[in-house]
This record gives sequence, structure tokens and C-alpha cells, in this order.
Amino acid sequence: MRSVGVVASGSRSFYAPVLIYKEAEHLVREESLVVIRDRVADKRYLGILRWLTKMDPLLPSTQRSGVVDNPRLAEMATNVPFENSYVRIIGGLRGGKLEPPADPPTPRSEVLLIESPGDVALDLGEGLIVGEHKYSGIEVPLDPKYLPYHIGVVGATGTGKSRLVKALIDEVLAKTDWRVIVFDHSGMDYVSYYPDRVVDSSEIMPDPPTLGELLAEVSMLEKQLDYIVPSIYAYIAYARGGSSKATLEDFRRKRSLGPLDCSLEAVKDLNLANVEKLMAEMRWDLDPLLRCVESVSDSLGAKDATKAKMVLLLRTYAGGLVESLNKKKLTAGDLVKRIFEERLLVVDLSTVDIGMRRYIVKSVIEGLWRLVDERGEKPRTLVVIDEAHNYACGGCGASLRAIERTAREGRKWEIGLVLASQRMIDFSTDVRNNVNTFYFSRLQTPGDFENLKGVLDLGGIGYDTLSTLSVREFFFAGLGNPLRFPILVRVKEVGEPAGIRGATRGR
Ligand SMILES: Nc1ncnc2c1ncn2[C@@H]1O[C@H](COP(=O)(O)OP(=O)(O)O)[C@@H](O)[C@H]1O
Ligand SMILES: [Mg+2]
Repeated sequence: MRSVGVVASGSRSFYAPVLIYKEAEHLVREESLVVIRDRVADKRYLGILRWLTKMDPLLPSTQRSGVVDNPRLAEMATNVPFENSYVRIIGGLRGGKLEPPADPPTPRSEVLLIESPGDVALDLGEGLIVGEHKYSGIEVPLDPKYLPYHIGVVGATGTGKSRLVKALIDEVLAKTDWRVIVFDHSGMDYVSYYPDRVVDSSEIMPDPPTLGELLAEVSMLEKQLDYIVPSIYAYIAYARGGSSKATLEDFRRKRSLGPLDCSLEAVKDLNLANVEKLMAEMRWDLDPLLRCVESVSDSLGAKDATKAKMVLLLRTYAGGLVESLNKKKLTAGDLVKRIFEERLLVVDLSTVDIGMRRYIVKSVIEGLWRLVDERGEKPRTLVVIDEAHNYACGGCGASLRAIERTAREGRKWEIGLVLASQRMIDFSTDVRNNVNTFYFSRLQTPGDFENLKGVLDLGGIGYDTLSTLSVREFFFAGLGNPLRFPILVRVKEVGEPAGIRGATRGR
């Protein structure tokens, strides 16, 4: 290790002022890791250099000195200015282990720069490594036991959040027995890295209430949802012939149905436990569905004008959506099953609209919780949600509730969240407060910074420091960091995916 400075007077247990040697000025950097060697107390400390400052005793910023008016004088004594700094002490070093800082280092102690991991024996345990400390190359692992305490990855667009998460996923798969489900909001961040693990969202069947919302939305019938949802149930019952025994042929034969064929009465006999499965197996046609809407809303007391409007608008706008249901052969339950078979599943959410995306996130998470609630099983699954502000926001409805439950109770049952977002400010408080490990980079707004400060000890890092970070540079902080102190990490190289997007999608 290279000696770069000396502890000056006024050192404290957490902060030690340091005078930097002239010849070392070009070596030290903001956020460099250093060791303080205190020979008097026979102790060593690990710390981080902060607030590098250039001083000139002859040019105090608050006084007028002779040098100001004497440019020649200023040029003559160029070795007068000096650099000082502070070491933010992380802890005492004893046999490679860190212990909490208890007393200040003695002034005149030597400050040594850590330039490579071999410079200092530091035992940080085993774990998941997404990168290394920017200047020393030291790897700071995330202990997998903190996966169910949830991880937040926050930073402005383009800072490298998705790549960091990709590195983390690979570490989890290589070093733990956790399962991983990834919700790829854009369909561009994970899909092409794992082409044989991808599920296309447009193949997933919604449940009747969600389908009702989708139909109401495309047809501008939001106020008629109370008629549309029951009509969907009645249609399912009708299509199944009132029981799950009816075949597709039966249904096709009954194509022209009288108004009494489709009624809420028949829904009594439906097995609703796995209604999406029924929906995925049956045939969907607009005409008979419209007949169901007519007869069911009639039985529910809808006015003639309302009925006519519903039929008209659904006929005009909902044809494509209803036809597309015939291609939806998967249910959220199927996805949960596949997580267990394949360990890694990537859901391409980009092929459906936001309401359906939230439904998928919600119902897969609920599927994991069903294992807990019904069988007392620990799913041991990491739920990765990219662009998570679209799913964990205050107004995100169903997906928010599922994420909140996981955030609160996941640690007991081994369901962990990885939430990547440029807008953590949109997360509900309950979600934010239950994320215990963070990787954070340059942020979109000062508001995001205040938000982060509210849930995490930033160890003195300011908004300005964050704004100077480049792509791939993140502070690693919180429970999962064995240093228990935010450390600047450069994320490992995550190369471009091999295949062209979509070329090998599905299985
Ligand atoms: N770890 C990395 N390895 C290689 N390239 C990276 C890495 N992190 C970021 N990049 C580059 O920066 C771009 C943006 O990264 P990305 O993870 O998509 O950012 P974000 O998700 O924060 O918007 C990537 O397309 C890539 O070119
Ligand atoms: Mg991204």
C-alpha cells in the first residue's frame, strides 16, 4: 500500500482530517478506500476519503492577502498550496474483520491508499457480486440471506440499472438455490439474454374482472363494468355448457343461442377455483358474448338504451380483443409452475397494455403466496420487477397490493423483491420502507434523493456526489452490504445479448 498522507489534529471516531502528501495528490480520489495505521495505539482502521480540498495558506478565501495583488508572488511559490481531506472511518480492522469504530485514530498516523484487493486482508464473507469498488477493485458481496429483505436499484434512465440486475440474476442462479421470475417491462432488457426462458404476455389469460376492465376500456364502457363482468361469467358458464364437461364441439353447435341460454343461473355450477384455466380452454366469439351481455344486463335491470349502447360499442371496438383470447393458452398458475420447473422465467410484458401487465404481476405474486397460504411452503423465489414504479405506485391497484404484501411479509416466507426504477418517489411508502438493500446511482431529481435519504443511511453522500457518477457506477448500501456503509461500486461488464431480439422467443 502506498502512503498518501497523515492524520491531522482533530480526529474523531468517525472522521479523521488528513493532510495529503504533495506527491500523492494525483493518486487520491473522492471515495478511495484507505487504511489508517495507528502505531501509537497499535490499531488499523478502514475508511473512505471524502471532501478532498485544495488549500493555500497564503490565500485564505475570506481575507485579502498580499498574494492577491501580486501575481508574480503567486507564481513563485507554487508548492505552497496543499491538499487535505477527511477519512470517513468505516471501522477498526482486526484480523481481516471489521469492528465498529470506537476511538479516534491518533494524529500523525499514516494513511495508506488501497490500490488493489491484495493490499488489505479484508474478510467480507461470501455472496453475490455485481461489481467491485471503483478504485481498489475490492469485491463487496451481498449475502444471499438478505434476498428476502428486498433490493432496490435506483438511478436515472441509462445509469445501468437493468444491466446491474442482469448481473445480480446471474449471481443468484450461479451461487444460490433461489428461483427467479423477471418481469421485463420493456421486453428489451432481459428477454434477449434468456431467449429460451421467455413467456410472451399476450399468451396469458386474464381473470374475468380484468378481462371486464379491458373490454370496458377498449369500448369506453367503464361505467358499465357491473354488467360486463357478470356477463363474462355467464358466457363462460354457457360456453362450458354449465359444467366443465362441455366440449368445444358442443359449444360450436350451439352457436345460435336464444336469450335464455346465457344466464347468471348457470354460473352457480361453474368451478371458479381455476376459472382462467376454463377460459383458456374454451372458444371466444364476439356474437354469443354480446348475446350474453344483452341477456345478463337485462336480468340485472339495465335500461334498453344502456343495453343497446353496450352491444353497439362492444361490437365496434372489442372484436379484436375477444378474438385474441383464443390465443391465450397460459394462466398465471402455469407461470408459477414453470418457475418451479425451470428456476428462471422471464415474462415479456411489452406485448400487452398496462392494465394487463399489472394483472400478470399481481397474479403471479399471488400464485407464490398461495403456496405459502395453502401449503405452508417457502417459495424461495426472487421476483424481479424492472421499471417497478409502474407496478408499486400508489395508484397501481392490484399489483401494488401484491407487492406490498411481499415487501412486508416476504422475509418470513422467502419471497424477495428486486425493484429497479428511476422513480422510487412513486413507490408506495409501505414498499419503500421495506426495501433494505439499495444500489443507487445518479438520480433523476433532488426529490428522488430526499426520498432515498428518508429510507437509508447514506453515510454522508450528497446529491452532488451522485450527480457525478457515470454509467455503471452505483453506491451499494443497506442491510446486504457487509461493510454496513455505502460503497462505490463499478458494475461488472454485462455484454450485449447474443441473439437478435424475438428471433428465438418462446419455447
Ligand atoms: N454493466 C454494464 N456492462 C456493459 N454495459 C453497460 C453496463 N451498464 C450499463 N451499460 C450500458 O449502458 C446502457 C444503459 O444501461 P441500462 O442497464 O439499460 O440502464 P437503465 O436500466 O438504468 O436505463 C446499456 O445499454 C449499456 O450500453
Ligand atoms: Mg432499465
